[in-house]
Amino acid sequence: MRTKVAIIGAGPAGLLLGQLLHAYGIDNVILERQTADYVLGRIRAGVLEQGTVDLLEEVGAAARAHREGLVHHGVELAFGGVRHRIDMHAATGKTMMIYGQTEVTRDLMDARRAAGLTTVYEAADVTPHEFDGNHPRVSYVKDGATHEITCDFIAGCDGFHGVSRKSVSAAIRTFERVYPFGWLGILSETPPVSHELIYTNHERGFSLCTMRSMHRSRYYLQCSMEDHIDQWPDDRFWDELKRRLDREAVDHLVTGPSIEKSIAPLRSFVAEPMRFGKMFLAGDAAHIVPPTGAKGLNLAASDVHYLSQALREFYDEKSYAGIDAYSTTALARVWKAVRFSWWMTSMLHKFPDTGEFGARIQLAELDYLVSSQAAATSLSENYVGLPF
Ligand code: APR
Ligand code: PHB
Repeated sequence: MRTKVAIIGAGPAGLLLGQLLHAYGIDNVILERQTADYVLGRIRAGVLEQGTVDLLEEVGAAARAHREGLVHHGVELAFGGVRHRIDMHAATGKTMMIYGQTEVTRDLMDARRAAGLTTVYEAADVTPHEFDGNHPRVSYVKDGATHEITCDFIAGCDGFHGVSRKSVSAAIRTFERVYPFGWLGILSETPPVSHELIYTNHERGFSLCTMRSMHRSRYYLQCSMEDHIDQWPDDRFWDELKRRLDREAVDHLVTGPSIEKSIAPLRSFVAEPMRFGKMFLAGDAAHIVPPTGAKGLNLAASDVHYLSQALREFYDEKSYAGIDAYSTTALARVWKAVRFSWWMTSMLHKFPDTGEFGARIQLAELDYLVSSQAAATSLSENYVGLPF
């Protein structure tokens, strides 16, 4: 098989890149290790920046998001038992959209199918070759037989545990911080407690009230990474959430059986550079942020925006300028989101080693945020998404 761009991974990064390239007339093939159902079974983030929605629109995959997504103008920050609203639309003129990553993935898969583009699911042993030279190719095993795709470029969109970054491990520099706690998340068929997200700093630990729709809620609790979900039956989860919420939220909270429950670690990670000859990394393959800033999916979208523009420039103008600049351009935005996610995480969680001093600093910072327009605007600019 021959294609222009071989994409490894059918998560949001790989699928969105595939549709952008298709819109520019650049043919591509996606190789995905799992089945489509498995990919769709993962419950992940739920906040889309306007820039991400714009990209979905560009590839004709935003209709359902516009119908079913919830447009939010702000978020609430709670501390000391009191909730404060940050009006992000007033500060920036931009909004966010609540629409699950699972739904984004489904819409992109549908668009890809409708366009008749090739996706090989259950592709085992996917391996990129010779991206340093002029004949890049990707091999894989499907149904016991080995296949090879020759291509002009390889896009490593295969997430944090993918093969692309591993295949260049000698050539990269990594930067990492692992946080000493995790997020225990549940999904329930209950109306959200408030019409906006509530991020709470509490002496028992962070909590977040978020949603997928007006009848499906998602809640998170900071937990120990030693915890196991078996130790968190629904009743214990709801009791602990109530302890961390303000009075009004407790009064409005509707509890119900969980339909999903999981514990996720929190990590900041960046690999540099993001280009190796004719192979590029994009999305979680290159970087991870803690979910506190809602940036993971949006960073995958901005990476593939830059990458698709670089490839378009190459095919239209025979210019390597965009390709040469890809890593630097993408990393400049990545690091700002890494900083923002680290800062939100630092301000909102209970840290085992910073003591009472650290807790007071957090409260001072939160109080400053909700009393200074300049500080609220800075938070808002980052939360709604920095420009591409
Ligand atoms: N071969 C083929 N496919 C692979 C391989 C491999 N060796 N390794 C991983 N994959 C696939 C995974 O099965 C997955 O479907 O690559 C895909 C990567 O998708 P994601 O992990 O969702 O990563 P990405 O597309 O970069 O999406 C951005 O940011 O914060 C997060 O939750 C957000 O998952 C989202 C991510
Ligand atoms: C979510 O809806 O799952 C969500 C929202 C905001 C975050 C993280 C997760 O910061």
